[in-house]
Amino acid sequence: MLELLEAIFDEVKPMLGEGKVADYIPALASVDPHQFGIAICDIEGHITSIGDADVPFSIQSISKVFNLVLAMNHYGEGMWERVGCEPSGLPFNSLVQLEYEDGIPRNPFINAGALVVSDMTQSRFASPHIGMRDFVRRLSCNDNIFANKVVADSEFEHRARNAAMAYLMKAYNNFENEVEDVLHSYFNNCALEMSCVDLARATNFLANRGYSKCADEQVLSPDQNRQVNALLATSGMYDEAGSFAFKVGLPGKSGVGGGVIAVVPGRFSICVFSPALNAVGNSHLGVAALTSLSKRINWSVY
Ligand code: DON
Repeated sequence: MLELLEAIFDEVKPMLGEGKVADYIPALASVDPHQFGIAICDIEGHITSIGDADVPFSIQSISKVFNLVLAMNHYGEGMWERVGCEPSGLPFNSLVQLEYEDGIPRNPFINAGALVVSDMTQSRFASPHIGMRDFVRRLSCNDNIFANKVVADSEFEHRARNAAMAYLMKAYNNFENEVEDVLHSYFNNCALEMSCVDLARATNFLANRGYSKCADEQVLSPDQNRQVNALLATSGMYDEAGSFAFKVGLPGKSGVGGGVIAVVPGRFSICVFSPALNAVGNSHLGVAALTSLSKRINWSVY
């Protein structure tokens, strides 16, 4: 496995420095773009890693996966009346579909969908972001995971676009709680800092029919786990989901902090970190490294 990661690192290294770190969240703009790390966690829980795989980074939209899992554990199939399971084909923070689709977001990974899911967990947890933090600590066997308050506050200060989506959904009766309370939870979840090793461990249940070896917990039923992987494959990479499926062929999820997680069902979970993003806001080297990985292991879900 280590040789595989070394070969991938050698292949993508010349691209370090290409792309641009997220600067629409001012607190993320100062991150060093020249970082790169990968960790793989097999279904026995063994980790192989290389580069900056132990460096904690802002997980941002990768948090949407964990929040969705928490909501699926507290709501039945009825939750899919409030959020869809179709790719949007639009940027993650787009508002346009929401109005002509009556306030029902296309999927749980675009911001509008993640906000509805956050509204669901807000109704079920006394302190949703603490519930979420404790959940990822359990899944990654690491009690040293925290939200970065500077990042969360910076996003809250620049919340206008996410607030607009949430208020529009409220106007369509698809939002139960106070918008500002849900945004506070959502931004704190996005501001959690985890390393590639943490995230490869924390997402391992997706490769293992819903069972987390680290937490010794059946996190999702095998059927629900299949649903989450299908959503990751069709919507996890936003308006790059199609070409990611074409080139990589694995369920995946990105965050503007530069992390990308991917799943090889039945085999392993992967996390790549490199903060410089491509034009659609996914990690430039993250996508390149996963493209190289899927070619080298000659495996895709399709
Ligand atoms: O809501 C936002 O804009 C961010 N907290 C999360 C965005 C994100 O990571 C999109 N993913 N690639």
